[in-house]
Amino acid sequence: MVSTATQIATFTFDNCLMNAAGVYCMTKEELLAIDASLAGSFVTKTGTLEARSGNPEPRYKATKLGSINSMGLPNHGFAYYLDFVTELQQKPNSKQHFLSLVGLSPEDTHTILKTVQQSDYQGLVELNLSCPNVPGKPQIAYDFEATDLILKEIFQYYTKPLGIKLPPYFDMVHFDQAAAIFNQYPLSFVNCVNSIGNGLVLDDEQVVIKPKNGFGGIGGAYIKPTALANVHAFYQRLKPSIAIIGTGGVASGRDAFEHILCGASMVQIGTALQQEGPEIFQRITTELKAIMSEKGYETLADFRGKLHYLSCG
Ligand code: SIN
Repeated sequence: MVSTATQIATFTFDNCLMNAAGVYCMTKEELLAIDASLAGSFVTKTGTLEARSGNPEPRYKATKLGSINSMGLPNHGFAYYLDFVTELQQKPNSKQHFLSLVGLSPEDTHTILKTVQQSDYQGLVELNLSCPNVPGKPQIAYDFEATDLILKEIFQYYTKPLGIKLPPYFDMVHFDQAAAIFNQYPLSFVNCVNSIGNGLVLDDEQVVIKPKNGFGGIGGAYIKPTALANVHAFYQRLKPSIAIIGTGGVASGRDAFEHILCGASMVQIGTALQQEGPEIFQRITTELKAIMSEKGYETLADFRGKLHYLSCG
């Protein structure tokens, strides 16, 4: 019997596939559509201290190989999402969920997390340290000193399960340095990766999105090799108590299989979910199970992280 069930910290999920923050997660209605699908969980849109309308439109464009976006964290405010996941958590047989959060300043982030700490919510939080699209606000996790400091401060008061959403890194030294920081903290997971920040897509002589003169986060097939590299680099470096969520370029069962082979315990789908809708979870689950069955794997643990290398000489 082939199963795609999985676990992050003490939380179990019937299926390892779910949405990526930013897609199908702005409203309760969208989140309920994911909950009703074959997805094992959902993550909310990243909630900030106050509601935001985000960047001017057009701010998302699908392309042949993926997407470019500069949404600018439009959201209903973190309390909207906190109330919703807390309400769902109280329902019998509810799935476990992820609450995505970040402040526009460290002070805002602490205000938000102190509120969650004091709330009835007992589920997972995904702290977004990687949004590339808020003008004037750099991607936090590219600043190792700032990242270390904010994690140090957070874990002085925050005792509930928390993971972080990372931007892609591109240098072995950066994988080493980032992992050395993350290994100091009781993180439940890291999510690799957010979009590749600040790409440009052109149509004839013109950019295709309005904010930041066309610069935006790149997602979809363009980024799968970068996402797989980040998943595997952190799988090799992080202590086993920090699970990896793989995100980037997942549009088929084969893509999900590759993320798990590189070390992912859960796999998020962004661009392809935007294009295909929540039925995608049925298709990709069926494709993933077919690959597992063909290879004789019954559970994700049978192949997670077991990437084959080419031997030297
Ligand atoms: C956005 O709202 O700009 C996208 C979210 C993200 O990249 O973290």
